[in-house]
Amino acid sequence: MCGIIGITSRPGKVPESPAFIVRKGLERLEYRGYDSVGVASIVDYSIIVRKGKGKIKDVNRRKHLDRVPGYTIIGHTRWATHGRPSDVNAHPHIDCNGVIAVVHNGIIQNYLELREKLTKLGHKFRSETDTEVIAHLIEHFISEGLKPYDAFKKAIRSLKGSFALGVLISSEKDKIFFARKDSPLIIGLGDGYNFIASDIPAFLEYTRKVIIVHDFEVGYITPDSVHLENVLTGEVIDINKRIHVIDWTPDMAAKGGYPHFMLKEIHEQPRALKDTIHGLGVEVENAIKLIMNANRIFITAAGTSFHAGLVGDYLFNILAGYTSIPFIASEYSKYKNSVGEGDVLIAISQSGETIDTLMALRLFKKLGAKVIAISNVVGSAIPRESDVTVYTRAGPEIGVAATKTFTSQVMVLSWIAVKLAYYTGRIDETTYKSLLGDLHRVPELANKTLTLVEGETKLIGEEISDRHSVYYLGRGIGVPIALEGALKLKEIAYIHAEAYPAGESKHGPIALVEDGFPVIFIIVEDEMKKHILGNIEEMKARGAYTIGVVSDEDKEARKLLDRAITVPYIEPVFSPIIYIIPLQLLAYYTAVKKGYDPDKPRNLAKTVTVE
Ligand code: F6R
Repeated sequence: MCGIIGITSRPGKVPESPAFIVRKGLERLEYRGYDSVGVASIVDYSIIVRKGKGKIKDVNRRKHLDRVPGYTIIGHTRWATHGRPSDVNAHPHIDCNGVIAVVHNGIIQNYLELREKLTKLGHKFRSETDTEVIAHLIEHFISEGLKPYDAFKKAIRSLKGSFALGVLISSEKDKIFFARKDSPLIIGLGDGYNFIASDIPAFLEYTRKVIIVHDFEVGYITPDSVHLENVLTGEVIDINKRIHVIDWTPDMAAKGGYPHFMLKEIHEQPRALKDTIHGLGVEVENAIKLIMNANRIFITAAGTSFHAGLVGDYLFNILAGYTSIPFIASEYSKYKNSVGEGDVLIAISQSGETIDTLMALRLFKKLGAKVIAISNVVGSAIPRESDVTVYTRAGPEIGVAATKTFTSQVMVLSWIAVKLAYYTGRIDETTYKSLLGDLHRVPELANKTLTLVEGETKLIGEEISDRHSVYYLGRGIGVPIALEGALKLKEIAYIHAEAYPAGESKHGPIALVEDGFPVIFIIVEDEMKKHILGNIEEMKARGAYTIGVVSDEDKEARKLLDRAITVPYIEPVFSPIIYIIPLQLLAYYTAVKKGYDPDKPRNLAKTVTVE
């Protein structure tokens, strides 16, 4: 996830210089990424670029971004996905001759293929990013005789993946070209000036009149006009029908209109999952090679990431027939005498900096094992020290409680498990394609789930907000979901919450159950469901208040439960991504009802760097 902004104005039409406005806008977008920053401006039909690694404040001090001359300027604050944070990888990216500058948010899936073709045609690449191909692609189409805007559109039609783009072409001195697919892009309309940006706060101080750009729409802004069209059909869009006037405060705007970052991030999951899928490439194949050659597979992580690891462990067993050994990272010393060459460790960490996971990784490496990292932060310590890294593309997570990073990690692990199952001959090609198809449909199902469950989870959250204890019970793949649901409730709503394999509840925990004690069941449509139904009966017989997350195909559990939260049916092995969504929302609404700030739970830090 990155932030882009662009302004084109007539002289004297904005109260500060355009460069100053771009710098301020970038600061408002810094929540989207902050590892490097840059701007490009058109002056006298040529392009000036200033950029560098670091936070906006620091790069601005070194490179004077807010003093760049010109009235048509684009800017970018980066959150690295392809290529680590560096001066060269910072946006804007330019073509061979420096006459085209591009800022991009998203992931170009087919960039390797395009880069290879363009390199053969003589283009010289400077960075490791996926974005740079766009500048060269436009350059290539212009060299074939197309006009700049037509070359831009042709380039857009060649891209696969997700993008929000701002592009300058030096011959078009007051135009900013833009395009959108799967990454947000908004136009802001002023009097004698216009903006594009990833999000409204970037220009809120200067205009409240906006147009939301839709997928497959492209166009350009000038100081006095907006051209918008569908890139596939060529239909020109009447912008007057698309203008909204918004009434957000700047704080509401930074959170996309949501009251908290946590709620915003829960709602971002369909996008995060889609970007994560788009970003999966050669690293997954490299990871699978290591796994297939391993003597033993260990999985380690802390907290929420460990729960994702437990899902991975389940899928490796069930789908691929591989036994793995999951362990909580801080317990790494147990393996100091038993691990060796030939073993593989999968280390999962959204921040890539958690000290427990890093220490486990270092021990395993010292003992000769290979390490695969799954992380959300490019260039962080755990990826740096691993043999292979598969990145999730959830974007920065500001809320302390992990939400979108968890589901993105589970997506990566599910993807690996399906491929592993196919490569080792456990499933045939038809099943393989069908399972990958299921995974491709998950972002849409997540979207549907958010719509379906929000009302019910708010109601139940308010109901349980005065309770002191809650149990979460599941079986099989439902166990890590229960563990993660319970962790969310305790960390942000400060309610004692325990998760157990449902079968285990009779071996002790049930002793605590009395009238009204909330028990939340994870009811997945697999062969263990009949046993869960029995567990619901047992808990009801002791007076428990039974709540369940159930599929919309369920006919039995709903009749038994006091409260059912219905989610769309999903292939049972992929249920964690969908079933955790109502449990995240439940924790969120419980915390809010109790008057707590879910973004900043007491005693917790987003990244734990002390052992
Ligand atoms: C819970 C949470 C923590 C983290 C844990 C690991 O909501 O956020 O439990 O999951 O501290 O952090 P990473 O994934 O950064 O290693």
